[in-house]
Amino acid sequence: MFCTLMGINALYSQSNEDCMMCHEDQELTMVKGGKTISVFVKASIIGKSVHKDVDCTSCHEDANVEEFPHPERLKVVELIGLN
Ligand code: HEC
Ligand code: HEC
Repeated sequence: MFCTLMGINALYSQSNEDCMMCHEDQELTMVKGGKTISVFVKASIIGKSVHKDVDCTSCHEDANVEEFPHPERLKVVELIGLN
């Protein structure tokens, strides 16, 4: 069952523009550990970096949902060998 769902999920592909519809809003915040933190994403950070061809969802896999909104709590992404 779990494997079947994962297989279906792999078919969805949200583009970076889809993410930025919400995340380009500088006012976008969430409450985490009792603190309000910004989830604003500067398009320029992604756009000009060597990762500009990298999809948001290649790191944030669990945000790659068929229909937004994605879950409130996403898995923490671990970067190995980047930067
Ligand atoms: C419909 C608006 C919307 C879209 C589209 C959207 N997000 Fe979000 N995102 C939010 C909101 C709102 C939050 C703050 C969490 C909350 O309160 O739900 C958030 C939080 C996050 C977080 C932090 C979650 C955490 O637990 O730390 C990540 C990472 C994230 N989004 C990635 C993405 C990615 C990647 C995409 C594109 C695949 C995307 N988002 C598309 C609205 C959106
Ligand atoms: C190279 C991998 C990678 C890519 C590509 C990537 N992210 Fe992230 N993102 C991370 C990591 C690592 C964190 C910090 C750890 C965590 O919270 O998961 C993070 C954190 C976040 C957060 C939490 C708030 C913050 O600033 O810490 C949001 C929102 C987010 N990313 C959205 C996006 C969106 C939208 C895109 C595409 C425009 C994107 N990410 C592309 C790796 C990536």
